[in-house]
Amino acid sequence: MIDLEDVHLSFSENTVLDGIWLEVDRGETLVVMGGSGQGKSTILRIILGLLEPDSGRVYVHGVNVTYTSQEILDQVRRQIGMVFQGGALFDSLTVGDNLAFRLHEEKGHEEEEVIRVVQEKLSFVDLEPKVASLMPAELSGGMRKRVALARAIMGSPRIVLYDDTTPSVGCIAAQTITALINKLRDQQGVASIVVTHDIGAALAVGDRFAMLKDGDIVFEGTGEEVLATDNPDVRSFIDARMAGA
Ligand SMILES: Nc1ncnc2c1ncn2[C@@H]1O[C@H](COP(=O)(O)OP(=O)(O)OP(=O)(O)O)[C@@H](O)[C@H]1O
Ligand SMILES: [Mg+2]
Repeated sequence: MIDLEDVHLSFSENTVLDGIWLEVDRGETLVVMGGSGQGKSTILRIILGLLEPDSGRVYVHGVNVTYTSQEILDQVRRQIGMVFQGGALFDSLTVGDNLAFRLHEEKGHEEEEVIRVVQEKLSFVDLEPKVASLMPAELSGGMRKRVALARAIMGSPRIVLYDDTTPSVGCIAAQTITALINKLRDQQGVASIVVTHDIGAALAVGDRFAMLKDGDIVFEGTGEEVLATDNPDVRSFIDARMAGA
């Protein structure tokens, strides 16, 4: 589903990705770990085709997103759902309009269909139909996270990317959400990449884990291997977060 092959990217003197190889299959969740500024969000932006690497190949559904037309790129992006830190909802729109935003932008969708899809996605994330008429300010933290996920899956994407690295905002991948990430994977074969500082949540969703440091993947393995490894980078990353950092 997603393939990064030998991806290099520097911002002037700052080499962020120095030959990254990553693969995520259908129905698989990859957790990308790494300290602040190590390039986690950069990888997600490259997959979305928002940033072009200096070299290397990036395939999403077999399409090389770094060398393709805007039209194909738009098609690829429609198959990717993105869940941002803190939800990134429009505060002046109801939950329903937040969810419907992309469909309204695309035009050509019957309003009845839009309402039906909004209700279907709310139900998927275990929210009641009436939540559609609430404003974001009226949501609890947990509801907000569910709404953010519901919005990301409005287009029934085959890939969902989660970017949640600021501890203070509260973790998107907190307990309620981990179950939903797994439900998407198991019921719909969604492939996911999860970036989170919440190591407990990461262990609850990750099929595989990759640790990014100084432009390289310095560790790759299953959850069990993460917990058992004596790789010093992984250990200090996990220990800092287990300690409540
Ligand atoms: N558009 C840009 N222009 C210049 N430098 C950038 C740009 N985007 C990111 N960077 C740099 O690339 C590096 C990686 O940034 P990135 O946002 O991917 O880190 P991150 O791993 O997501 O960090 P965090 O955990 O804090 O979210 C940082 O050094 C950052 O300053
Ligand atoms: Mg980031």
